[in-house]
Amino acid sequence: MFAEAVAKLPPQPAPTSISEFRERQERLTSQFRNDDVFILASPPFAVHSNDVEYRYRTSSDLLYLTGWSEPESVFVLRYDQGSWVSTLFVQPQDTLKEIWEGRRPGTDGALADHAVDEAYNNDELSVRLSEWLNDTKRVFLRGGANAEVDDMVERAIRKRDRARQHFGSGPVSLEDPSGLLAELRLRKSASEIEQMVYASKVASLAHELAMRHSREGVTEYQLQSIIEAFFSYAGTSGWSYPSIVGCGENATILHYTTNQDTCNFDEVVLIDAGAEYRGYASDITRSWPISGTFSEAQREIYEIVLRAQLAAIDACQVGAPYTAPHEVARRVLAEGLIELGVIQQTVDEALDMETGELRRWYMHNTSHWIGLDVHDAGVYKPGGTPRLLEPGMCLTIEPGLYFGAWRPDVECPERYANIGIRIEDDVLISTQGPVVLTEDCPKSIEDIESIVGVSFG
Ligand code: GLY
Ligand code: MN
Ligand code: MN
Repeated sequence: MFAEAVAKLPPQPAPTSISEFRERQERLTSQFRNDDVFILASPPFAVHSNDVEYRYRTSSDLLYLTGWSEPESVFVLRYDQGSWVSTLFVQPQDTLKEIWEGRRPGTDGALADHAVDEAYNNDELSVRLSEWLNDTKRVFLRGGANAEVDDMVERAIRKRDRARQHFGSGPVSLEDPSGLLAELRLRKSASEIEQMVYASKVASLAHELAMRHSREGVTEYQLQSIIEAFFSYAGTSGWSYPSIVGCGENATILHYTTNQDTCNFDEVVLIDAGAEYRGYASDITRSWPISGTFSEAQREIYEIVLRAQLAAIDACQVGAPYTAPHEVARRVLAEGLIELGVIQQTVDEALDMETGELRRWYMHNTSHWIGLDVHDAGVYKPGGTPRLLEPGMCLTIEPGLYFGAWRPDVECPERYANIGIRIEDDVLISTQGPVVLTEDCPKSIEDIESIVGVSFG
């Protein structure tokens, strides 16, 4: 079923090199003082139900700095005898546990192919931290990631507090490194972009497969299963966020994930689904008629959203504020709805955040950063001013219009009742103009109508 689709994929890219992980660590430590220590713990397992855990996914910061994805690990950077030393504390090898749960790379595995100078079993963390924090002034700790490690660091600091009283030394402040890491992660390297391109290509084909399998009577969960099965088949780790598959009025619910309804002939289905590859997210939304042909009303709304999306992508230029695509998209949407008679205000009135009617039908932002997290790290308004776009930044462009006839707060125009359209692509900012990472995913009305309900071939 998937062979033809997977044949369209390029070879998987090379993983990020050890030297690049070292460079990332150096960019971080170059902002530290020599008496700082940086501590980053993996998050604990999340429980699904008795004796069952969710598939483990480590923190994006840890993936960014080391590529290490194993649970119960802690990464430390400290300055020692003239240079920065990177250390990974890892799960100890344990034959009985490995028989049940899977092999553990252990310290040898960590040292073999990761950007770390030292590796220890994690049961050594407490003792070594106490020692390393002796001469430390600032501890950079991403608090809240792992309560056990937070406690351990606090205990070590309290111990040093007592030492400070006696000897006048010991750590004095605890700082959050999130801002420093977010700033690094905001600009993607060539290798990161390669991983994102692969995730985007897989997700694009998955959407195309779902289009091809759309027909009257298909269920939302069947379309979801095609998409998510293809994510795995194509070698990704699965979804980067729970798939949204909503037909009819469900398409007007922004984060609908129930995915249990049956699709009717005259409905639009909205699918917002992305694959994760080596930790990197893709995030695509497409909306199409189950019948394979847009009705006039569906086409009217789709054309406005598409126009808004293309204009917003054009606004993704180096030096533009990150808000530019949102402003452009809102204006095109407002103009379109005024033309259709849905809004009876002027464009400027319609755009007003308090009294404008656009917000009834378009109530979310157009963009978010994307990378290791689907809603990726990066301050949008440093110092209160919108960030200017730079080469290497990646963001989504995802305008939509949602006419929920079920909503008690507005009167939905009957002609557009229960039409929900969102079109979302992932865009890389470059000096050559915007690069649409998800460009393979069908988007024009002609392409969609020629694909929906038609098998590969
Ligand atoms: N898939 C979530 C979003 O589009 O932001
Ligand atoms: Mn998105
Ligand atoms: Mn999305």
